[in-house]
Amino acid sequence: MHINFEYFGERIQEENYLLKAYEALDLLLEKKGPGSEFTGWVDLPVCYDKEEFRRIEWAAKKIRKDSDVLICIGIGGSYLGARAAIEALTPLVGKRGTEILYAGNHLSSEALEEILEYIQDKEVSLNVISKSGTTTEPAIAFRILRTWMEEKYGKKEAARRIFATTDKQKGALRTLAQTEGYETFVIPDEVGGRYSVLTAVGLLPIATAGIDIAAMMEGAAAAMVYTKKDPENPAIRYAVHRYDLYHRLGKQIEILVQYDPHLVMLSEWWKQLYGESDGKEGQGLWPASASFTTDLHSLGQMIQEGERNLFETVIFVDHCKKHLYLKEEGENLDGLNYLAGKTLHQVNEKAFLGVKKAHLQGGVPQLAIHLDYLDPWHLGYLFYFFELSCGIGGYMNGINPFDQPGVEAYKTSMFRELKKPGYF
Ligand code: PA5
Repeated sequence: MHINFEYFGERIQEENYLLKAYEALDLLLEKKGPGSEFTGWVDLPVCYDKEEFRRIEWAAKKIRKDSDVLICIGIGGSYLGARAAIEALTPLVGKRGTEILYAGNHLSSEALEEILEYIQDKEVSLNVISKSGTTTEPAIAFRILRTWMEEKYGKKEAARRIFATTDKQKGALRTLAQTEGYETFVIPDEVGGRYSVLTAVGLLPIATAGIDIAAMMEGAAAAMVYTKKDPENPAIRYAVHRYDLYHRLGKQIEILVQYDPHLVMLSEWWKQLYGESDGKEGQGLWPASASFTTDLHSLGQMIQEGERNLFETVIFVDHCKKHLYLKEEGENLDGLNYLAGKTLHQVNEKAFLGVKKAHLQGGVPQLAIHLDYLDPWHLGYLFYFFELSCGIGGYMNGINPFDQPGVEAYKTSMFRELKKPGYF
């Protein structure tokens, strides 16, 4: 197994919930649970469209050749997975190759204006991503950026630089793409936004960032081993622990913690996955996140001594590729000679162990998910692990983990404010 699952804290009654977890797994695999029409992601790592996969690789190669910048236009599940993977697997500073920017994930004119200014003298491609093809934020950003592209390149060349990822038949974006002749990729009907990172939604931007998407799919396929009923299965254990911590031990907040700034956006992806899947019918653990050791100097106080209503799930990457050694210094003015000979990664490991003990003393139960390495294969593996465990946990809670009816409320209210036809 490439995920090593640990738990520290008050005893979890795993044996009491295993049967419930197995039943939930059956519902998922046999497609008999609520929302089963959106469980296409379960087999996706082995059943994906290979012809489209090759077109994604071709498009990524083209964009890398002719564009300084690819702007991904999308929101929620239509951008978080790609950004999570790209930030996890490419340098945070000094990126090489085509730079990936994000738009359509907010309504800030300042932020969009900054992009427009930044790309003035750059070669640009767009990837507009929307399953419904009608989401307001990306639709607005696309209208503005499409106009910019057509003014810069002319309609014909702009069309060659615009890639649309959307439903295979429906929606305004599909119609627009067909009319304008954009290259299109499909978001399968049976895969919802937050489970779509391993479709064209995530794969085109990720491949454009120079990441090996074939390895990512292989990693995800390897994680399908977690569809087995086994008390040691980490996907089942994770779902069972969350269930017991929430229902019996009364925890209300789960903080996803990681020890590497490359993983900040992975936490954002995870928050959407669990937030939109779990938060229904007046229940659900609140998915929060923290980046350690950074946030030990901000949220750390609250975690250690605030209200005891939370637990932590720590992602720790056991092996790192780049080792920085601390050297002995003659004068030891900074007092760090006691660390001489150690790597920074070893110091980070000790931080993880020290924080674990301190937070345990503070009454914070902790789950630890150890990942061997941070590379495309392991990230694909981790994506699948979280998706699967989320599906199992949702069915254990008796809800539909694949819809998001609550998201509509703000849209309706905003449309009334905007006086959208049909809403006032
Ligand atoms: O997970 C989801 O389904 C949502 O977060 C969607 O991804 C998000 O609302 C964007 O929707 P769309 O892709 O239709 O523009």
